[in-house]
Amino acid sequence: MRIRLEHVTHAYAGSDESAAVQVLGDISLDIASGDFAVLMGASGSGKSTLLNLIGAVDKPTAGRIFLDDNETSVLDDSRLTMLRRRSIGYIFQFFNLIPTLNVFENVAFPLSLANTPRSDVKSRVAEALASVGLGNRATHFPNELSGGEMQRAAIARAVVHNPPLILADEPTGNLDSRNGEMILDLIRSIHKSRRATIVMATHSERAAAYGDYVIGVSDGRVGGVGSGGWEKEPARDHYSAPSPESVAENASTPTPHPPLPTPRKQ
Ligand SMILES: Nc1ncnc2c1ncn2[C@@H]1O[C@H](COP(=O)(O)OP(=O)(O)O)[C@@H](O)[C@H]1O
Ligand SMILES: [Mg+2]
Repeated sequence: MRIRLEHVTHAYAGSDESAAVQVLGDISLDIASGDFAVLMGASGSGKSTLLNLIGAVDKPTAGRIFLDDNETSVLDDSRLTMLRRRSIGYIFQFFNLIPTLNVFENVAFPLSLANTPRSDVKSRVAEALASVGLGNRATHFPNELSGGEMQRAAIARAVVHNPPLILADEPTGNLDSRNGEMILDLIRSIHKSRRATIVMATHSERAAAYGDYVIGVSDGRVGGVGSGGWEKEPARDHYSAPSPESVAENASTPTPHPPLPTPRKQ
């Protein structure tokens, strides 16, 4: 799924006592379908706000946002909800598993929201759990898992409906370095095998090195200071550059996502 932002600004509404705070200013971005892009910046720079706008969780104060050909910044709430359920998987720093549901039920949750036939649910959840190495944990509850296992369950939940867009907000922020690397390896392998577009927010250089490129975020702006534009910085460190073969392979046309259905009238 391609992501485009045109001159996006975002302010959080103020209260009676406080003025509205502008946290993003004039952001323009174009992330190609199938990219693994990293939003990197210090705490408070606006990464989560930007991810929430991309993920249609929140709407920009000004500017336009497109996911493929859908301009999400003008869609009504019911269409946004539908778009999120069908097309987006979200991975959070604190996992956000539902404590009263077991691992199977947590992972099945997006499928139930998308009205997946019951007969498909079992096999798809089993496949998603196997892909994160949790095939033997289906009946366990979140409080019976380690942090790394909880995040793997959350990743299974994020990919079970095969979304063309996966958003990850500080996915290793609550893990030790060993588990963090395991999760980053997993996200990278999901990127390779599913060919989804991935946008990951992090403040860690080490985590950022797993992406294809880094988009710097600072003080609510991306890329070059004051330019309103941005540059792709290469991801560094231990992430070896993809081979020409894999680049060529990834350049092949991805399966187009079906258009959104028109919501039923109430
Ligand atoms: N709901 C909110 N209401 C008001 N201000 C907010 C809200 N959420 C975030 N902010 C402010 O927006 C700025 C950017 O926050 P955030 O997007 O969470 O940054 P990051 O994810 O990079 O740490 C911060 O100054 C933060 O205090
Ligand atoms: Mg954040």
